[in-house]
Amino acid sequence: MPTTPPPLRSRAWFDNPDNIDMTALYIERYLNFGLSQQELQSGRPIIGIAQTGSDLSPCNRHHLVLAERVREGIRDAGGIAIEFPVHPIQETGKRPTAALDRNLAYLGLVEVLHGYPLDGVVLTIGCDKTTPACLMAAATVDIPAIALSVGPMLNGWHKGERTGSGTIVWKAREMLANGAIDAAGFVALVASSAPSTGYCNTMGTATTMNSLAEALGMQLPGSAAIPAPYRDRQEIAWRTGKRIVDMVREQLKPSDILTREAFLNAIVVNSAIGGSTNAPIHLTAIARHAGIDLPLSDFETHGHAVPLLVNLQPAGEYLGEDYYRAGGVPAVVAELMRHGLIHQDAMTANGRTIGDNCRDAVIEDERVIRRFETPLLKDAGFIVLGGNLFDAAVMKTSVISADFRARYLSNPADPDAFEGPAIVFDGPEDYHARIDDPALGIDAGTLLFMRGTGPVGYPGSAEVVNMRAPGYLIREGIASLPCIGDGRQSGTSGSPSILNAAPEAAAGGGLAILKSGDRVRMDLRRRRVDVLISDAELAARRAALAAEGGYRIPPAQTPWQALYREKVGQLHTGAILEGTESFQRVAAVLPRDSH
Ligand code: FES
Ligand code: MG
Repeated sequence: MPTTPPPLRSRAWFDNPDNIDMTALYIERYLNFGLSQQELQSGRPIIGIAQTGSDLSPCNRHHLVLAERVREGIRDAGGIAIEFPVHPIQETGKRPTAALDRNLAYLGLVEVLHGYPLDGVVLTIGCDKTTPACLMAAATVDIPAIALSVGPMLNGWHKGERTGSGTIVWKAREMLANGAIDAAGFVALVASSAPSTGYCNTMGTATTMNSLAEALGMQLPGSAAIPAPYRDRQEIAWRTGKRIVDMVREQLKPSDILTREAFLNAIVVNSAIGGSTNAPIHLTAIARHAGIDLPLSDFETHGHAVPLLVNLQPAGEYLGEDYYRAGGVPAVVAELMRHGLIHQDAMTANGRTIGDNCRDAVIEDERVIRRFETPLLKDAGFIVLGGNLFDAAVMKTSVISADFRARYLSNPADPDAFEGPAIVFDGPEDYHARIDDPALGIDAGTLLFMRGTGPVGYPGSAEVVNMRAPGYLIREGIASLPCIGDGRQSGTSGSPSILNAAPEAAAGGGLAILKSGDRVRMDLRRRRVDVLISDAELAARRAALAAEGGYRIPPAQTPWQALYREKVGQLHTGAILEGTESFQRVAAVLPRDSH
């Protein structure tokens, strides 16, 4: 590490003797709320706190409180804190999708980090899309950056049982459909899963992405799993604030941390924690903005043979508090390290390698974090599928239940494969309107398809591929049919769907020409899903669809939706705004003066 600190980029605004008239202009407005000229010209690093919390973003709202401790840490280490808002993203509250806003928040944050006098930044991460949006921006700009998770909610409880975020919703929907609870009971059951401030307490996309931000090296070790209301969360906020100041002095940047080895570590950890099917999308997006090659196949090549160690819902039974008490990410990494699955030399935000950080971590509760030798499941990672309906899709094998396996994948004559008629839905409205209609003839042998729900079609890609079976089948004990689609599914869902199919129907994908009643073969061993119609019939349908002007999607309702649809790529390549990845390490060149 350099002994003489390099010049700070904030000096170009606040302390530039060669351009005193612009310095005066820049400095005067930051004096008007009480900062002094002496402070701004003291040579202290100016540290941004990228605030994702607000009343609109309940999952991340506790960051408003934590930011005070971050500020104190920054100050204690000799920096000056400047807090600013990030475009809010609330996973469950934002219509039509929060996914639409990930790239918008990314663009906004890049512009702020590049265009203002900031030497480093604390990224306040949490709710699903806030984590990738912040890491994508940090990767593009490449100023010293450290992430601070807001932490999961406390465990939810109902009648003595753990109720986990999201996961309880899917269960409650089935209970409502078969008459086990009424509407008031539905709300009470779902609300029991959210007992405190923080993000989803299951291993949904939030816990996944916060764990992976730590596995990537972008958070202090041990910080991701601390529940939001715990005192340890306040302490890690203060330590994160202190650390970013030293990262600026050391010029430790995202490009030093976000290496291919770090992403491979994240893929392995994602399998071991039973992470969300949204992880490949977000990790790919971060990797592309960091200039790292990370094809979707890496998730199967490096992640599939990894055992499931973390016993959290939806794949297991416990929740966020249990995960933290059992040792969190360092305990998982240490266990994986003992079996040679972690690139130990990957650098992390505290200036040490992940190997040095995690080597001595121990599992405190083996019911919650299993030993490598006694996993919940072997080969628990994703598989990547193709076929004549799409080029790429993923399936989370850790949530294939014994019942599902027995019903659909255990024919001795044709193992791991299943054939049946398709029922096709054009979006969730179509699905909700028709799923319980007996006239559709859905039975235990039907495959459900969802289309029109990808990045372009929805727009934003919606979490709607996990579809519950019709009420009449649930009452017979058949809750999950094979589901396949071009949208996503919530990380809190335990459904073994084949999802994120690309290209989507709205981008010329084969799902657009599938018809209800077509026979489809799902073959997990060969990693294929194929509609069993002739090539000539396929070609004829494609020509007919093209003559009609392609797969119909609803009109854009806002300017951003229209711009997003023009630029967005498909889920298997991260659904970033195509072309934006050509901007790399943009902080290396200062922007022009503004006047
Ligand atoms: Fe925000 Fe789950 S909805 S973290
Ligand atoms: Mg979600």
